[in-house]
Amino acid sequence: MNILAIETSCDETSCAVVQDGITVLSNIVASQIEEHKLYGGVVPEIASRRHCEAIAAVYEEALIQAKVHLADIDAIAVTYAPGLIGALLVGVNFAKGLALSCGKPLIPVHHIKGHIASGYLCHSALKPPYLALVASGGHTTITRVKGYTEFEVIGRTLDDAAGEAFDKAARAMGLPYPGGVHIAALAKGGDPKKYKLPFPKTENIYDFSFSGLKTAIINMLHNAKQSGNSESIDLPSLAASFQHTVCKILADKLLNCHSEIGNCDLSVSGGVSANMCLREMLPNAYFPALEYCGDNAAMIGCQAYYEFLAGNTADGALNAYATMRL
Ligand code: KG4
Ligand code: ZN
Repeated sequence: MNILAIETSCDETSCAVVQDGITVLSNIVASQIEEHKLYGGVVPEIASRRHCEAIAAVYEEALIQAKVHLADIDAIAVTYAPGLIGALLVGVNFAKGLALSCGKPLIPVHHIKGHIASGYLCHSALKPPYLALVASGGHTTITRVKGYTEFEVIGRTLDDAAGEAFDKAARAMGLPYPGGVHIAALAKGGDPKKYKLPFPKTENIYDFSFSGLKTAIINMLHNAKQSGNSESIDLPSLAASFQHTVCKILADKLLNCHSEIGNCDLSVSGGVSANMCLREMLPNAYFPALEYCGDNAAMIGCQAYYEFLAGNTADGALNAYATMRL
């Protein structure tokens, strides 16, 4: 079964053709990062406009690279929630128009379920039930994956997501958006034990809170600047300490949850799963290949296959939603 998948929830316009939920025939990702970088973060209106401009060409390129025609496609899948509403609507309306015009089934996919499914693209041994950590720019969740379309959220972020914390800390350190890769690069020359940063407590021990950590970084830099002592801050060690603390919080909570739940596989996905420090802390977890960590339509095409098998299709009344629980 060939699924054409569309993803436009944030700042990547992506289309993919995925066969039987596993074989990626094409995965085109048009990133808008260079433009959002100018503003230090994603500007929603710019994101929507760029999706409108890019979607038709990205769709055509996905068919060309997959060496298929629309007639070879069996269903159209699209990310319909959560994300930036104007951005999501571009993908949802494109997918609806395509599905209605060619009479093919329409499969709505939840973005976070797509991130979880990215693990299947690279690891044939990964099968439910297992425990999944998703750490992205908008979400941090620990989820019990009971079946391909059955999820139980065990912990979630109470404030900033892990990737968002990386982005905000990077901005405070004068690094470009998106901050994760820049903090990771700067951290290479630093001592991760030099700065003691807070390990936030949460009522549910599997929930996350990263805003205090980000504030600690901002305050430290601000206080040094106010007292004319900016050079006293060892930025590589601050980046390394921050990265180490965020990764340790993510890894500890996942491993504690794992020991409570018992014997099952672990997976980690989402933009932050590209982080090498996190990968080293969780040597026994399944991580996606780097190309599937950030937003991409291949992961949506993978999850869509299982949604289709479960009968989860939509009609022309499908809408987009900025927020939606798993
Ligand atoms: O999954 P994603 O592409 O988009 C969302 O669904 O949000 O995640 C983007 C996030 C950004 O916050 C970015 O800074 C972070 O992933 N990220 C990283 C790394 N690469 C991307 N964070 C830490 N280390 C990295 N190597
Ligand atoms: Zn994402």
